[in-house]
Amino acid sequence: MEESFVAINAQPTKEIFTSRWQAPSNIALIKYWGKTAPQLPKNASLSFTLSNAVTLTEVVFMPLDKPTNKVFFSIVFEGEEKPSFRPKLEAFFANILLYQPFLAYYQLKITSQNTFPHSSGIASSASSMAALAACLVDLESQLTILSENEKINKISFLARLGSGSACRSAQGPVMAWGSHPKLADASDLLAVAVNDIHSVFKDFCDAILLIDKGQKQVSSTLGHKLMHQHPYADQRFAQANTHLAELLPILQQGDLDGFISIVEKEALHLHAMMMTSDPYFILMQPNTLSVINKIWSFRKETGIPVCFTLDAGANVHVLYPNNVAEEVNHFIEVELLQFCQNRQCVHDRVGSGIKKY
Ligand code: DP6
Repeated sequence: MEESFVAINAQPTKEIFTSRWQAPSNIALIKYWGKTAPQLPKNASLSFTLSNAVTLTEVVFMPLDKPTNKVFFSIVFEGEEKPSFRPKLEAFFANILLYQPFLAYYQLKITSQNTFPHSSGIASSASSMAALAACLVDLESQLTILSENEKINKISFLARLGSGSACRSAQGPVMAWGSHPKLADASDLLAVAVNDIHSVFKDFCDAILLIDKGQKQVSSTLGHKLMHQHPYADQRFAQANTHLAELLPILQQGDLDGFISIVEKEALHLHAMMMTSDPYFILMQPNTLSVINKIWSFRKETGIPVCFTLDAGANVHVLYPNNVAEEVNHFIEVELLQFCQNRQCVHDRVGSGIKKY
């Protein structure tokens, strides 16, 4: 247990408190794939925080007469009660009760919605856990004194316990999670903002092509577990840390060729881990490969610095600088949408993290 994150001085009150926060999704450039308990990464990862793909969460904290030994909550997502969300949330609350013991004095009414299509394959655990963590820390800051820095760190810390990648959604535009020799203040416990980023990356675009909106065949949780017995695990963790070290000066200098090379390697190496685990699996679809090939041809023909990354699914994130947005959007429209389910694509860009709404 991390003693410094325990809210020992937060005294519950008898007041009803309502908190509303929105949190964005994020897209990893250096991938987190492999962890140990309690939700500690096997390598450092780095991501762009997004702007448009967000979860909006309201939590009403209703005081109880007597404290309980677990957190009582209800969850309504996009207008419907969601029993299927309960196991993950129950495990989350059981973990964080240690860090926010005052939650035993409240019943929580959670209402949440996403701005992006549900089951689109866009990772919603990152945005939803970050938004929930922001509401929980909002209550904590009513009950005790927390500096802005303490608040944002606690949000990232709690979000990580819900879903590893969620800790990178608290701030932006570029976040790193996991200790790394080139990042003095980086930690396995929470994500920190990476400063010294070239302006070209501060408004970078991410068009998320929805290739396969169906349920994932393999959850991230299982995928992480398969890294325990994986024959290439140690090489992969070392490689991710090396890629991160190489990416930092690239992000500083605005080196787009260097960026493309590292980001595409990371995406393919992540999927290579899936294809070489036991049991093995493939999350890319034929249309994922068609899109990748189209991007490579377009880049070769035009010299426009557009590239792709993937997360744990078939969707393709098309990444490009804002100053070529017109040409790339035209290319997406004419060449890539044909590979998407119902021609669906979510246009997003780099953003700044959680916000009150
Ligand atoms: C491929 O954060 O979803 O998107 O910690 O089990 O909730 P849990 O996993 P999760 O894994 C994300 C994996 C990834 C890469 C990344 O975002 O770094």
